[in-house]
Amino acid sequence: MKQKQIIAVIGATGAQGSGLVRAIMGDKGGPFTARAITRDVSSDKAKALAALGAEVVAGDVDDVASLRKAFQGGYGAYCVTFFWEHFSPEKEMAQAGNMAKAAKEAGLQHVIWSTLEDTRRWVPLSDDRMPTLMGKYKVPHLDAKGEANKIFSERGVPTTFLNTSFYWDNFIHFGMGPKKGPDGVLAITFPMDDKKLPGIAAEDIGKCAYGIFKKGKELICRSVGIAGEHLTGDQMAASFTKALGREVRYNPVTPEAYRNFGFPGAEDLGNMFQFKRDFEDDFCGARSLEMSRSLNPSLQTFDAWLDRNKGRIPME
Ligand SMILES: NC(=O)c1ccc[n+]([C@@H]2O[C@H](COP(=O)([O-])OP(=O)(O)OC[C@H]3O[C@@H](n4cnc5c(N)ncnc54)[C@H](OP(=O)(O)O)[C@@H]3O)[C@@H](O)[C@H]2O)c1
Repeated sequence: MKQKQIIAVIGATGAQGSGLVRAIMGDKGGPFTARAITRDVSSDKAKALAALGAEVVAGDVDDVASLRKAFQGGYGAYCVTFFWEHFSPEKEMAQAGNMAKAAKEAGLQHVIWSTLEDTRRWVPLSDDRMPTLMGKYKVPHLDAKGEANKIFSERGVPTTFLNTSFYWDNFIHFGMGPKKGPDGVLAITFPMDDKKLPGIAAEDIGKCAYGIFKKGKELICRSVGIAGEHLTGDQMAASFTKALGREVRYNPVTPEAYRNFGFPGAEDLGNMFQFKRDFEDDFCGARSLEMSRSLNPSLQTFDAWLDRNKGRIPME
């Protein structure tokens, strides 16, 4: 039997990476096996991945030597950074640099870099439709990822640039679920007017990534955007109403109001939604549903995701 090739997965215990590890290990006859990279090989999440048959190894994106070791002997790697752990775009870029360096030195044949748009290509710092944040960003957690694309290219790493989408799981884990308004009616709140927000079940990101690796060299040096659906706030609210059996409204607010909500990262997210609103055609256009489904035939719609997850959504 042909030996399976190793895909090293950064963030293997997290939302994106665990979907990929599960997709690889779930395809028993497939060409790959997963090497799950974690800072703590003894955690319950790490043990659950080992129970699937994945190799579990230690690695930290701040430590290039640990990455070099973790990538050694591999065919490919899935690279992702964790903005919301530190809120630092500079740190994200340094971590991308560490992963690109280690990937090159390990001679990997295919890397997927989980990225997003550098919004300054559309909204230069001189454009005051939205405030400049941290001195040189419009949407720090998007801009840093987009800026880091060139780090992989300049190092000559054979890379697919994977443009992800808003996780619907944010309704569970990121405090974005329906909340009761002053009238007692549940509402979801976004500053998107009537524009469409590309969204995806987080686990489907890993499944799409698996589809990219399975295509071999075809998508190297290319950007691939993925989404499960492009939906307006009203459409998402209607789905919630149907799934939960009680009224959920869409509460459109201005980006300025969103930026002033006061939670950590509110300004960054306010600018992000404004960017997605103002450049709807470009942002949705870069995330083909057809392509996403061809990479991952079990891609979930929002209704299907809600049906599975409605019991986990906190409602205040
Ligand atoms: N939420 C959204 O809608 C959305 C949409 C698109 C993109 N994103 C982006 O997705 C990224 C986060 O990915 P995710 O959601 O998959 O993360 P996640 O679920 O928060 O998981 C993060 C995992 O990464 C590991 N990790 C954290 N720091 C690490 C380090 N220094 N070295 C190695 N591993 C480390 C942790 O594993 P161990 O503790 O086991 O080491 C953790 O399980 C963010 O940059 C965010 O901007 C989010």
